[in-house]
Amino acid sequence: MALNKAPYKGTQDFFPAQMRLRNYVFDKMSEISEHFAYEPYDGPLLEEVELYMAKSGEELINDQIYSFIDRGDRKVAIRPEMTPTVARMAAQVHREVTKPFRWYAIPNLMRYEKPQKGRLREFWQYNADIFGAPEGLGEIEILQLAVGIMKGLGATHEHFEILLNDRRLVDNIFQKLFCLSPEEAKKLYKVADKVKKIDEAAIKKMTALIITDDKKAELFYQYLKLDNFTDLKMFLQQNDLMADSQDFLTFVNRLEKFALTTYVKFDPSIVRGLDYYTGVVFEIFDKHPENRRAIAGGGAYANLLQIFNEPALPGVGFGLGLVTLTDFLTTHKLLPDLVKASVDVLMAYISPAAEQECFMLAQKIRSFGISTELMFGETKPKKAFTQAEKKHYRFIVLMGDEEMNKNEVQIKNLETREQQNVSIQDMEKITRIFKGN
Ligand code: HAM
Repeated sequence: MALNKAPYKGTQDFFPAQMRLRNYVFDKMSEISEHFAYEPYDGPLLEEVELYMAKSGEELINDQIYSFIDRGDRKVAIRPEMTPTVARMAAQVHREVTKPFRWYAIPNLMRYEKPQKGRLREFWQYNADIFGAPEGLGEIEILQLAVGIMKGLGATHEHFEILLNDRRLVDNIFQKLFCLSPEEAKKLYKVADKVKKIDEAAIKKMTALIITDDKKAELFYQYLKLDNFTDLKMFLQQNDLMADSQDFLTFVNRLEKFALTTYVKFDPSIVRGLDYYTGVVFEIFDKHPENRRAIAGGGAYANLLQIFNEPALPGVGFGLGLVTLTDFLTTHKLLPDLVKASVDVLMAYISPAAEQECFMLAQKIRSFGISTELMFGETKPKKAFTQAEKKHYRFIVLMGDEEMNKNEVQIKNLETREQQNVSIQDMEKITRIFKGN
């Protein structure tokens, strides 16, 4: 029986064209992260499953994790997210390194999800996290970094928005105003999360199971309708919650002062599915209705290091997925022309006698940092030209009997159409031609 050529369900093969796109995006992410003084790190593909049990949340553990027992009877999981790994790594070194420390990584992750638009089982996710930053400032920098990456990829506030909320604020409203226990408040998170995905009747039905008092339920529906910071402040004022919301209100002030409100909007439905968040939470969305899934998600987590018996060290970060980002960049036509391969020279021998000379010369040219492809076997000039043009090479180098006899090669610039014969001993001239100086 023939084997299946398709990749495993929900995974992708990256052919050279897709790889060019991936490299373009990853290079931009790395470049901008380093402008923000974030340092690269990486962790293992497998972790002990317990690492995720502690704080990643039910959905990830019950439905999405790829886990198995290894040959040594350890229960392990393929990383479904990077935050527990980065927290584990931070827990090892936080005493020695200067704080705050800023790290970024672009790992591949696996989640057992139904493959669909914006969702695969194996996916690449850029992560940036800052540890030990003063309250509120790490959050601002992380938002600036997220905006920086989106802008670096050519996007503006017309293309995307950052929807933001704060778990401290949500807990205050849910627990104080609706008189819910922390467990009930958590159940209400799920209702808030669903508000844009299901109809009003279904929301009301879910709410009734948690808030039994009609007046309080009405207040919850009012909360769900808030869609900007001004209305939120009014809601807090009317319900006597201003004093309890000071941390968040100070943060909102900063967002306004630091010109982040061009991108950032309040959204009551952003609560995030992962358990470890304790403060600001946010997601980046495409403004185009075609792409409904979040491009990125993140927030502040104050207590994650405590699962390793370490003192609390506040962290803030976000994850940005390549699948949703590619949909976004494609929809808005923000991808540059990535068709061109980055090879400079195509070399061909038009006489079999020149084979050895061409192999040697190609090797020499490459040693000057000029990418060179050598066509194998005696080749007709026409075939070499067709190939060079198809692959968008910049130069073609030919050697036949005539050139061999004179110890020369024929070099043609495919952009200017200029052609000249150059001695193969004169490497300085040859490289000058290719480098254009
Ligand atoms: P998350 O919201 O689970 O957060 O994922 C962040 C982003 O990863 C999503 O917005 C999406 O772009 C992408 N993503 C998630 N699942 C899939 C999937 N199945 N297929 C394709 N793309 C996907 C986290 O993972 C947090 N650990 C982020 C974080 C870092 N928080 C703090 N630091």
